Amino acid sequence: MTTYAIIVNQVIKRFGREKDNHWIKGVFRKWTSANGKNGNKPVEEENTGPVLALDTVSFQVKEGEIFGVLGPNGSGKSTLIRLMSTLLLPDEGQILVMGLDPVHRQIEVQQLINRVSVEASFFKKLSPMENLIYGARLYGMGGKEIRQRVVQILTRLGLEKRNIFNPMEEMSRGMQQKVAIARALLSRPKILLLDEPTTGLDPVSKREVQAVVMELKEQDGTTILLTTHDMNEAEVLCDRVAILHKGKLIALDTPEALKDLVPRMNGHKPSLEDVFIHLTGDKLKEEQKEDIESAQAMVRAITNADKLVEKESQPALEQ
Ligand SMILES: Nc1ncnc2c1ncn2[C@@H]1O[C@H](COP(=O)(O)OP(=O)(O)O)[C@@H](O)[C@H]1O
Ligand SMILES: [Mg+2]
Repeated sequence: MTTYAIIVNQVIKRFGREKDNHWIKGVFRKWTSANGKNGNKPVEEENTGPVLALDTVSFQVKEGEIFGVLGPNGSGKSTLIRLMSTLLLPDEGQILVMGLDPVHRQIEVQQLINRVSVEASFFKKLSPMENLIYGARLYGMGGKEIRQRVVQILTRLGLEKRNIFNPMEEMSRGMQQKVAIARALLSRPKILLLDEPTTGLDPVSKREVQAVVMELKEQDGTTILLTTHDMNEAEVLCDRVAILHKGKLIALDTPEALKDLVPRMNGHKPSLEDVFIHLTGDKLKEEQKEDIESAQAMVRAITNADKLVEKESQPALEQ
């Protein structure tokens, strides 16, 4: 029987720009037009409705797998991770982390999960050791054994002893990212959520971090959900990949099966990138088609209206 570490069921998350400072915008608009600063120019943001960051998203993450969420900027990846880690509440639908709902069982879920954010922050003047001890205290961990554990985790992730006690600012981005993962491991999470763990890293650091992720799965059996916009990374690391596009889940399968969705080109198997372009490209064409259709309908309506005006005004001209 498959055990699911995470279940995402029909989750919807909106960010309400509509409500945001609506009255302030109104006052500002009045002020700007009264002062001739804006004239009658429409305020663009005015028509922006709420952002649908996640649109009825459902999937399950199996225990012990590396599950990738692949999508371009703004597709909803971080929102999904924040919902799982109790930092945000869903508007509709439900998430279960090891059978627990983060909305009602916040503390228990926080004990099971840890998250490495895309911009992990540190005290840059302090060393990895100091940063991790600080992190451990936030988790209520302390005592002598924590120093040993910090050294153990950091050396395991490939940090040399001398780096452990040097300021973070002297380390490469790749090393810093490893420290971020090490900090997340302090709480011995069953599930690790990695939000774009390799974005902005050079190719060597990228591979080092990827090796760490693989090792955590293989040696510790940690369930890992990672987000990325790097197709190659998803292909190399993930057992299964969900593709998010504008808040919607548009595909979910193993990298191999996803590649089978796209016809082979010149006998070559397509890359995951081809799959993404294939899937999202179709969607874009659909949207463009809708745009073209509505534009045509509008032109027809205007032309018909013109004809009507002509018809109505003609008798008057003849008279
Ligand atoms: N706190 C927020 N307030 C308003 N809009 C947000 C907020 N967080 C995310 N969004 C919007 O939700 C959408 C998805 O964002 P995000 O989950 O950060 O995407 P990704 O991580 O894939 O780049 C974007 O349109 C983004 O602008
Ligand atoms: Mg993000």
